[in-house]
Amino acid sequence: MFSLVQTVAVLSLASRFAFAINFPFESIQLTEADVAGNPDIAFGKLPASGNGKKCKTFPGDDNWPSAERWSAFNSSLGGALVRGIPPAAACYQGPYYDEARCAVVRARQGSSRFASDDPTIPFGQWQLDNPCPVPADSAAPVYTCNFTSLPQYVVNATTAKHIQLAVNFARNNNIRLTIKNTGHDFLGRNTGGGALQVWVHPLKYFETIPSVQDGHYSGRAAKIGAGIMTYELFNEMAKSNFTVGVAGGATVSAIGGWMQGGGFSILTSRFGLMADQVLSVEIVTADGKFVHAAPDENEDLFWAIRGGGPSNYGIVTSAVIKIRDPISISSTTLNWQTSPGTSASPQVSNETFWKGVNAYFSHLVRITDAKGIGWNYIRTVPPTATTPRTFTFIGQITLNNFSAADAKAFAAPLIADLNKVGFNLSNPEPSWFPTYAQQGFRPNPDEGVSNGRFGSRLFPRKNFIDPTSKEFLAAMTAIRSFVEDGGYMWHSVDYTPTLETAGYPGRTNAVNPHLRNAIMHSTGFDFASYGPETTAAEKIASHARLNEYLNKLRAATPGSGAYMNEADPDEPNFQESFYGSNYEKLARFKKKTDPWHVFHAVTAVGSDEWEVEGTQGLTTQQGRLCRV
Ligand SMILES: Cc1cc2nc3c(=O)[nH]c(=O)nc-3n(C[C@H](O)[C@H](O)[C@H](O)COP(=O)(O)OP(=O)(O)OC[C@H]3O[C@@H](n4cnc5c(N)ncnc54)[C@H](O)[C@@H]3O)c2cc1C
Ligand SMILES: *[C@@H]1O[C@H](CO)[C@@H](O)[C@H](O)[C@H]1NC(C)=O
Ligand SMILES: *[C@@H]1O[C@H](CO)[C@@H](O)[C@H](O)[C@H]1NC(C)=O
Ligand SMILES: *[C@@H]1O[C@H](CO)[C@@H](O)[C@H](O)[C@H]1NC(C)=O
Ligand SMILES: *[C@@H]1O[C@H](CO)[C@@H](O)[C@H](O)[C@H]1NC(C)=O
Ligand SMILES: *[C@@H]1O[C@H](CO)[C@@H](O)[C@H](O)[C@H]1NC(C)=O
Ligand SMILES: *[C@@H]1O[C@H](CO)[C@@H](O)[C@H](O)[C@H]1NC(C)=O
Ligand SMILES: *[C@@H]1O[C@H](CO)[C@@H](O)[C@H](O)[C@H]1NC(C)=O
Repeated sequence: MFSLVQTVAVLSLASRFAFAINFPFESIQLTEADVAGNPDIAFGKLPASGNGKKCKTFPGDDNWPSAERWSAFNSSLGGALVRGIPPAAACYQGPYYDEARCAVVRARQGSSRFASDDPTIPFGQWQLDNPCPVPADSAAPVYTCNFTSLPQYVVNATTAKHIQLAVNFARNNNIRLTIKNTGHDFLGRNTGGGALQVWVHPLKYFETIPSVQDGHYSGRAAKIGAGIMTYELFNEMAKSNFTVGVAGGATVSAIGGWMQGGGFSILTSRFGLMADQVLSVEIVTADGKFVHAAPDENEDLFWAIRGGGPSNYGIVTSAVIKIRDPISISSTTLNWQTSPGTSASPQVSNETFWKGVNAYFSHLVRITDAKGIGWNYIRTVPPTATTPRTFTFIGQITLNNFSAADAKAFAAPLIADLNKVGFNLSNPEPSWFPTYAQQGFRPNPDEGVSNGRFGSRLFPRKNFIDPTSKEFLAAMTAIRSFVEDGGYMWHSVDYTPTLETAGYPGRTNAVNPHLRNAIMHSTGFDFASYGPETTAAEKIASHARLNEYLNKLRAATPGSGAYMNEADPDEPNFQESFYGSNYEKLARFKKKTDPWHVFHAVTAVGSDEWEVEGTQGLTTQQGRLCRV
């Protein structure tokens, strides 16, 4: 890599200059001279009123670019165009058949690294209606591998110019554009059938900036490329002695979907969301321009890109973020269950189990006021002929800037409350790390890929202020019913990214206002299959049942919403739920800056004016995109 540090330190100028220093890959930009009158790659001109077409051009359409034009586009890209072939094509008869390769795909299909290192495929399969399932064994595959349902071509972006060319080519040819980073998105916002995809994963650059002083923020910063993932930032934190909150998933990108939709970490109650850390971004907009957005430049774009939803206002190439001094982390783990347990997870009766859940959550305000977070799962195993339905609670209270002794003392009143309702727990020793970097460090992580669905809900702080209030009891009753009657697994991460915590410039960004009032982000999981063996009707029925139980969580939290990055793409009234009072302003900004609707993602602002052709009930992204 290279060094920005010297340059920035010597310049020590006002923010716009310091921040406008590009990574070398960003200095390679598309110019009018490159365009040279070629209409395929010409820049867009604003203001504009769109192209008036009902549908995006789809493979096989008369006006789909010819092989010659794709080839010319590839030349302008210097050869960075890749055909969108899913790895599982190796398992199907045809030009890509390769038994050895298929065996590798079969072995690695559940790996997040396998998915993120592939230019074409997203994490899940149902989002594209399972277009190329990996056959379970070497017997003849039962399903078909349908390339049309996947992005057709991928620009393997290693320069800003590559991204500008992709945006211009897609806009000028009215082709759907998708953006893949790690491909981790749960909703399918990263993919689309027949699309031209921009793969930003290769943009792995990182530099610390020793001093930023812009009159409002004074401190260290870092400039990070779009492809940097959680675990890579932990490595940098260890190397350069700093802290920035990152996702719980080690292979999530730092400034892609995670930041652009909010971005919570175990430090969120202390420092806010990732969207709150951003001081400036470099970004390719719908007209193909490469621009800088900061508090004093392209202010509306700077506002929208921080929390107003990924994949919708431009393609981010890098961001400058606030970084902080190292901070210690301590975690207390508390588990219990109704099946035979252990001393670390004692067995309790059904009634005691749920009393324990109430006692635990009655401490949520205290935990988050101490700038800590809660993290927990309630799992259930259905009854068998010989065993009753059982329940398991797994919980962790994670504090920062506490000594181990203080963290243990902090947990004592909660342990006392649990013992009051019939537990026999001693206060466990917390695990303690001198720095967040040490707590999160994973040298070469991998994590699981799933093909399941879930829904989520933000519980506002007012549900948890008074454990005798009807709001608290409504929350507990809804959660219990979700697990006990629904038979679903329930999960929550409990944090408070208030406006006050967001600070400068975070408090003026487009983060969902419902997140600002929240104390709990809860998720309920459907373990029913959404795989290729299920019919559309089965998927609809399974989802409808999940939604019925999610409605209980919604009923207990009137006026709240959901966190868009971990949510159901079929969330009812997503506009209000994911964006709250920001929706109208974001929609006006979207219309003005992207009248061509170059950028589209399910549940993104303005996406409600579009639908995917051939959709059989639940939202998927495999078909042609058309105006409603
Ligand atoms: C294992 C795991 C753990 C997670 N943990 C957390 C957590 O702790 N906290 C949390 O808040 N969320 C968490 N998430 C959810 C996460 O925020 C979303 O999955 C998010 O969409 C991932 O973003 P990505 O860029 O890595 O993935 P992608 O699927 O590549 O992209 C997601 C979205 O962002 C867009 N996008 C990506 N890069 C860019 C770019 N450079 N410019 C413009 N648009 C872009 C894509 O088009 C897509 O719409 C987790 C997810 C997983 C799978
Ligand atoms: C683009 O060009 C490169 C280099 O010539 C070539 O390897 C690649 O296959 C081409 N891509 C497509 C989609 O044809
Ligand atoms: C993407 O481009 C880089 C740099 O040219 C190259 O090393 C890599 O192999 C390419 N990846 C794919 C999938 O084409
Ligand atoms: C890291 O930063 C902390 C806090 O600023 C400081 O106390 C410590 O000495 C630094 N460690 C190293 C190795 O620089
Ligand atoms: C605990 O509750 C579940 C569901 O409410 C029930 O099925 C189970 O039988 C109960 N267990 C016992 C031991 O009573
Ligand atoms: C951590 O606690 C110390 C006092 O114990 C305080 O001085 C410091 O500001 C705290 N750090 C943060 C980031 O809040
Ligand atoms: C509580 O647990 C301790 C061991 O952890 C045990 O010695 C004691 O008898 C238990 N008390 C009750 C009332 O079960
Ligand atoms: C492949 O997918 C496309 C887009 O969804 C669809 O139009 C086409 O019918 C599918 N082909 C087959 C053989 O299923």
